[in-house]
Amino acid sequence: MTFFIHTYGCQMNVRDSEAVSALLVAAGYDPAEKEDDADLVIVNSCSVREKAEDKAIGKLGLLCATKRERPGRIVGLMGCMAQRLGRDIFVNVPKLDFSVGTRRNGAIPSLVARVSAGERGIAELSSPDEIPDAPEAHADLGFSAYVTILLGCNRRCAYCIVPDVRGREYSRPAREIVAEIDALARRGVREVTLLGQSVMNYGRMNPVWFDGDAPSTHGFTEPFARLLEAVDAIPGILRVRFTSGHPSGVTDELVCAMSTLPHVCHHLHLPVQSGSDPVLKRMRRGYTREGYLEACAKLRAAMPDFVLTTDVIVGFPGESEADFEETRSLMDAADFGNAFIFKYSPRPGTPSAAWEDDVGDEEKCRRDHVLLADQDRRGQAQNERLVGSVQHVLAEGRSLRNASRWSGRSDGNKIVVFEPRPGIREGTIVPVRITRAAPQTLYGELCP
Ligand code: SAH
Ligand code: SF4
Ligand code: F3S
Repeated sequence: MTFFIHTYGCQMNVRDSEAVSALLVAAGYDPAEKEDDADLVIVNSCSVREKAEDKAIGKLGLLCATKRERPGRIVGLMGCMAQRLGRDIFVNVPKLDFSVGTRRNGAIPSLVARVSAGERGIAELSSPDEIPDAPEAHADLGFSAYVTILLGCNRRCAYCIVPDVRGREYSRPAREIVAEIDALARRGVREVTLLGQSVMNYGRMNPVWFDGDAPSTHGFTEPFARLLEAVDAIPGILRVRFTSGHPSGVTDELVCAMSTLPHVCHHLHLPVQSGSDPVLKRMRRGYTREGYLEACAKLRAAMPDFVLTTDVIVGFPGESEADFEETRSLMDAADFGNAFIFKYSPRPGTPSAAWEDDVGDEEKCRRDHVLLADQDRRGQAQNERLVGSVQHVLAEGRSLRNASRWSGRSDGNKIVVFEPRPGIREGTIVPVRITRAAPQTLYGELCP
């Protein structure tokens, strides 16, 4: 029996899909090259915006329709929308075979077996504070891997569905994470990205260190800085990244860990959402414009080559033209290297869903375009300043756009395209002198 997993949403979902692949392979299923060939198709869904849910439901409908020509084909749902809709999904997609909540992925192989034995319409949901099953399985690996360290979110921003679907914060034990990454490094992984919704909250809600663990060699006391130190020291790991950040996590210790630990990259994804204080307040983000810019200043002071990226929501309820201009000016002040812009989408049950969605779709689109154009200009100017510099690039192999070239990421997470040289190996860090800049890409030559 072959399987295919179709993934929507964020890195958390990419990671969960990879873990489920590993579990299915271990249970004797084979990965299919394409979805069309697969006997079992699982949709891993996202609930963060209405459009994301519409796509997943559309996809499930199409997949279930293929059962007519392919009796015995199994279609399953996992991820955030599975958790949010519970049994209601079977009203929309009556032919769906199973649906599994965000902390029950370990159950998937047994659910597939139950469906094969004739059961239908199984919903296996998780409760918000249960400890996840099987978080450490990894499928086929390249040299870069995601590792989930913190599940759930306790913050409850006014617009956000994530806490409802991903549950309460739970930090995995540090020893388990270190052992997992050590095993990954032995299998050739060179870069790890530690995942959590407010990833620097790691260890704040439940204990993660135990008696007998060696004290921090740098004298760190905060769990996240200690974890970075431990991961940084794992043999074979050349790069450590983490996402997403929240300004409250930008402590002196974090800045010290980022700037002194040799393998920790000088890049942070720190979603700002808005540059206007009244909007930030209604969003319940827990910081002000000034507080956000102070966090940036601390990071830049410690790391001259630091790159900051972000998420922004346009058209939040009550966002005026003046609020929007505040966002534009903050984005310039913070000098973002990249920005993901999202149009506000009310999510059922969140506080802001009760407020009038008053900006209008046309205006949201306009604001979206304005911010994207601003970001292109900013990215171009920022990247032009890097022309002539040497960037250390983790070589990923052939570039997707032009197979005669290679690409990789700089320490600051910028895409770098360069001419390969005989003998160059994937998964090694190579020095590239930058010769040309585009808004989201750097071009260069391998240093002799
Ligand atoms: N935990 C991360 C982000 C999780 S969701 C953080 O707190 O930064 C990823 C992004 O989706 C968010 O940063 C936000 O910009 C966007 N987003 C979340 N809810 C949204 C909504 N209701 N409408 C539009 N965008 C939303
Ligand atoms: Fe959502 Fe806010 Fe939690 Fe991020 S911090 S996942 S935006 S509630
Ligand atoms: Fe990620 Fe979407 Fe869930 S952004 S946490 S997959 S709601």
